Amino acid sequence: MKFQSPKGVSEYFPPRSSAFEFVRDRLLAPIKNAGYQLLELPVFEDTGLFTRGVGESTDVVSKEMYTFEDRGGRSITLRPEGTVGALRSVIEHGLDRIGLPVKVFYCGPFFRAERPQAGRYRQFYSVGIEAIGSDDPALDAEVIALAYEGFHGIGLRKFRLEITSLGDAQSREAHRVDLLTYIDSLELDEATRIRAGINPLRLFDDKRPEISSLMAQAPRLLDYLSAQSSDHFTKVQGYLSAMGIAYIINPLMVRGLDYYTGTTFEFVHEDLGAQSGIGGGGRYDGLMESIGGQNISGIGFGLGIDRALLAAEAEGILDSMDSSPTLYLIPLGERAKTASLKLAHDLRNGAISVEVAMGDKALKSAMKSADKSGAIFSVVLGETELESGEIELKEMSTGKATSVSLNSLVATLQSRALKK
Ligand code: HAM
Repeated sequence: MKFQSPKGVSEYFPPRSSAFEFVRDRLLAPIKNAGYQLLELPVFEDTGLFTRGVGESTDVVSKEMYTFEDRGGRSITLRPEGTVGALRSVIEHGLDRIGLPVKVFYCGPFFRAERPQAGRYRQFYSVGIEAIGSDDPALDAEVIALAYEGFHGIGLRKFRLEITSLGDAQSREAHRVDLLTYIDSLELDEATRIRAGINPLRLFDDKRPEISSLMAQAPRLLDYLSAQSSDHFTKVQGYLSAMGIAYIINPLMVRGLDYYTGTTFEFVHEDLGAQSGIGGGGRYDGLMESIGGQNISGIGFGLGIDRALLAAEAEGILDSMDSSPTLYLIPLGERAKTASLKLAHDLRNGAISVEVAMGDKALKSAMKSADKSGAIFSVVLGETELESGEIELKEMSTGKATSVSLNSLVATLQSRALKK
């Protein structure tokens, strides 16, 4: 019997998995440098957390959740996104009582039962941050900058940043009144009308051409910002400009989750076709309170690792990715095998990457494996070398060998400071 991975999941295996790892680590690096701390969260939560937090008008909640009953009869959902789980944890453990803003990051798999296609998976990977408990527009700019730095750190260049503001409650209410009047004047089917009733902004995101042409004339939230929201948004733009981060204002941006308020943003890559959103996020004023926490605002983002990887491949950045070891060690005979294991252990403790030939291979076949591994050096360790305490360190690219004493191999390789 043969098994296959479930439909529509992304899976990373060698050699591409090292590119995945590289992209993930580059996205995480600026976050860690900015004082965010790890939240390691469950991948499943109480279903009610998502229906309440993410919003029932969203496709994510209404169509895409993996929901099941556990053995205790509880309704459980595989997390479709990270924000509400992160906030649940912050509230549950009182992190917001210790000091504000709470700054956390997380990373791992998320689950949405979407129609699979290139760059859209049912299990995908994301790096996210949340900064909770400060209204400062400088925080918005810093959060956006961290995503920008992550993408830039991978080497991506062909992406743009789109920003908008969904305003405060007062701005949204003023806009909602006019928008609903406008929507009422349109000929719409029942399902669309119901969706609009829950969240009229969602119609801006409707992909049907007849709806999007109608919505092109609709009142725009950006024209309804209160003085306070407008001032906040202007400041965010000023900070971004001061950091030299280019952006486009997209007044028609609609995020797939209902909790956003104020500054919202998306990073869009030019080479990815339909699934071009490589990351996005924004502020969420009422979300903490809606799931039982204090009435404090927060802002964060989610960056798609799968899509950032596809983008990097499209830009040809990862062509020279190399995860080969510094040294390939070939033992000949039982005594040498024991010595090789010990030597490899010492080398790794000294931060030198090393692979040992396994399976008592003949020298010729072991040398082939050494070539295949891409190692910079190889060493053959047999009885003669053990007796003399001297080995030949062979540089694979040139075939040139240097005599080195066994005892000084770690130091020799370290001093060459070749890799890692
Ligand atoms: P999101 O935009 O829904 O935001 O997801 C974040 C990123 O995950 C997207 O920009 C995209 O790159 C990637 N992504 C989403 N769905 C898929 C999929 N089916 N396949 C592959 N990649 C996907 C959030 O989830 C928010 N929690 C972000 C946030 C944090 N907002 C505030 N704080």
